[in-house]
Amino acid sequence: MKLLRDKVMTEGIVLGNQVLKVDSFLNHQMDPVLMREVGSEFARRFAGEGITKVLTIESSGIAPAIMTSLELGVPMIFARKHKSLTLKDDILVEKVYSFTKRETNEITVSKKFLLPGDRVLIIDDFLANGEAAFGLARIAEQVGASVAGIGIVIEKSFQPGARLLGEAGYRVDSLVRIASLENGTVTFVDEVHESL
Ligand code: G4P
Repeated sequence: MKLLRDKVMTEGIVLGNQVLKVDSFLNHQMDPVLMREVGSEFARRFAGEGITKVLTIESSGIAPAIMTSLELGVPMIFARKHKSLTLKDDILVEKVYSFTKRETNEITVSKKFLLPGDRVLIIDDFLANGEAAFGLARIAEQVGASVAGIGIVIEKSFQPGARLLGEAGYRVDSLVRIASLENGTVTFVDEVHESL
C-alpha cells in the first residue's frame, strides 16, 4: 500500500534494531485519511469472506478496525486490556503476554457482542510475536465464532508472529511488511526479494 509505505519511510523512526516508532500517524497522533485508506484496503482484501464482526484490541488497533468495519458495514469490537467497571459478568477472557513490555494482560470481551457463528476479521496495528492476534483468535473461538483472517497494518516480518499464525492455519494479510530495521533503516520484504 503506497500511501502507508511512504508514511513509514518519511515519518517512521527506527529505535534500536527492533522497534519502529510511528506515533505521528498510527500510535498517538492518527492520520484519518490514511486510516480511511487502510480500512478500504482491508475491506477490499476480505470482501467475499462473509465477515460479520471486526475484532481488535485497544488502543491503536481501534482506528484501523473502525474504518474497516465501516467499509464492510459490520460492527467493530475492541478487546479491553483493563478491567471495565461496567463489564463484569459474561465476559470472555484470555491472557496475552507482551514480549515488548514483558507483562501479561488479561484481555476481555463481552459475550453479548461476539456470538457463535460470527465470522470474525481480526485487525491490529502491529504484528511482532503474534501474541495479541493469537489472544483475539482464542477469544473468538471460545464462543464458537470463526476467524476469517487477520489484517495487520505493519508486520515486522523478522519477528515470528506472521509465521506462527500462518502455521496455525490463519490467513494473515499485512499492508506493509518490514524485513529489517537494522542500522536504523527500514527495509521492506519486497525490497529484500528484489535485491536477491
Ligand atoms: P505481539 O502482540 O505481536 O506479540 O506484539 P508485542 O507483544 O511484542 O507488542 C506489544 C505492544 O507493542 C503492542 O501495542 C504492539 O502493537 C506494540 N509494538 C510491537 N512492535 C512495535 C513496533 O515496532 N513499533 C510500535 N510502535 N509498536 C510496536 P500495545 O501495547 O497494545 O499498544 P497500543 O495498541 O495500546 O498502542
